[in-house]
Amino acid sequence: MPASKNDQQYNFEVVRWFSVAAVIYLVVGTLVGVYIAAELAWPVLNFNIAELTFGRLRPLHTNAVIFAFGGCVLMASAFYSVQRTCGVRLWSDKLAWFTFWGWNLIIVSAVITLPLGLTQGKEYAELEWPIDIFIAVVWLAYTGNFIMTLANRKSSHIYVSNWFFLGMMVMVTYLHVVNSLAVPVSLFKSYSIFSSVQDAMIQWWWGHNAVGFYLTAGFLGIMYYFVPKQAQRPVYSYRLSVLHFWALMFGYVWLGSHHLQYTALPDWAGSLGAAISFAMIIPSWGGAVNGMMTLSGAWDKLRDDYVLRFMIMALAFYAMSTFEGPVMSLKTINALSHYTDWTIGHVHSGALGWVGMVGAGALYHLVTKLWGREMHSTQLVNLHFWLATIGIVIYIVAMWISGIMQGLMWRDYDEFGTLSYTFAESVAAMHPYYVLRMLGGLIYTSGAVVMLYNVIMTIRAPQAAGAGTRRTAKA
Ligand code: HEM
Ligand code: HEM
Repeated sequence: MPASKNDQQYNFEVVRWFSVAAVIYLVVGTLVGVYIAAELAWPVLNFNIAELTFGRLRPLHTNAVIFAFGGCVLMASAFYSVQRTCGVRLWSDKLAWFTFWGWNLIIVSAVITLPLGLTQGKEYAELEWPIDIFIAVVWLAYTGNFIMTLANRKSSHIYVSNWFFLGMMVMVTYLHVVNSLAVPVSLFKSYSIFSSVQDAMIQWWWGHNAVGFYLTAGFLGIMYYFVPKQAQRPVYSYRLSVLHFWALMFGYVWLGSHHLQYTALPDWAGSLGAAISFAMIIPSWGGAVNGMMTLSGAWDKLRDDYVLRFMIMALAFYAMSTFEGPVMSLKTINALSHYTDWTIGHVHSGALGWVGMVGAGALYHLVTKLWGREMHSTQLVNLHFWLATIGIVIYIVAMWISGIMQGLMWRDYDEFGTLSYTFAESVAAMHPYYVLRMLGGLIYTSGAVVMLYNVIMTIRAPQAAGAGTRRTAKA
């Protein structure tokens, strides 16, 4: 990989590796998503092989997209932007490489253990205790290196994107460690130290904060660095971004209980979670508007700047899912949506729309900057954008229809007070929507494959061969 003048000043090599890994994991993670979506439509696709069943591959999908793809995007962009905004090299090259290889080793262990059925059975925290300990070590190496780089900065100010990354790192350390506390009984079996309702509460305190801090605050760090950088304009309101940061930090930790409405959890805890969830619309929309308004006076850039197009679409989905989530946390709405595909629709409008689009935008920016050239083909970037957008819309519309239909079928009674539909009838009614979701996913994944091809061609091109039409922002 190329060594430029910037490479002497900064450690960009590790960022390059994280960026390429992220694109590969996006393809792999979404392909597994398409496969499990197909299994839900045609269960025969598990071929009666335990390792291929939906229950084994589902956590592989979530781990691949969240931790492999999402993690590599977060590590690439935090390591890149902290060096640029602080004007210094990463504090330790050794720790940066340890983070890269350690994180990838964790991903490989997930790929081996999850299909074998070795799991703690906690969502987004499936990996068994030895891997959990290693995750904590690698995450601390990432966090420590980031903090020390900030400490060495040349400017007195700490730019807001760094606050978001830092908030994510500190909170994820603490959430991961507490939620993973377990008593091992063998090398690959352990039991949580929490039991019954406490276990559920701790699990969803982690579960929602994996969304709130990792998939939201971390990716907002990306947004606050890359949107102004690409638009070559300052953040619309810096004060609003600081408010956004503190409101998210104080608000998100209270939301976990909205995953446990109508359970053994005390009723007041669910109500508290719902009330604070609803209030989260305000900072979330403040942040989304702040990102979008950064383009005010420069909207024309959207016509030919593909990175900004990905970012703005991501912000639209961020606004949409942070409106939908608070609504779903209300008890009366949750009574309908919980256990249904509506939740899956919400998840993927956030995951594909917000995380996937902002991640792709940041990766395109990084590839052009890190290799010092335009993308191999602007047309292919545009193709990716449209495949992704169309794929998301098909996916989430299919899930909204099937989810609301499921909820309504399950609660429908006839005049004798008996259920109008059997569970099997509701499953049969889902079939067309499951096929549609699989198609939407396939379209989204083909966009990711186009991106991988374009990135490979860009990296392999000789230095001067810039084929794009977009003006690049100064690195
Ligand atoms: C203020 C913002 C948000 C609130 C209040 C919120 C609220 C909710 C609620 C009420 C549920 C359903 C819980 C249940 O019935 O079990 C849910 C599920 C979920 N949301 Fe959100 N949401 C928000 C934003 C987001 C965003 C931006 C993303 C993605 C990046 C996201 C990802 C998820 C995931 C992955 C689940 C499924 C968790 C599971 O059951 O495994 N949410 N959210
Ligand atoms: C082409 C793309 C994708 C397809 C076809 C797909 C498909 C699926 C399917 C079929 C499930 C299981 C649903 C169920 O249990 O009923 C699922 C769950 C999930 N996926 Fe995806 N997925 C895709 C992309 C992504 C991406 C990019 C992310 C994150 C960045 C993501 C995050 C999740 C999460 C968090 C869950 C668990 C949801 C929950 O428990 O409520 N997916 N996905």
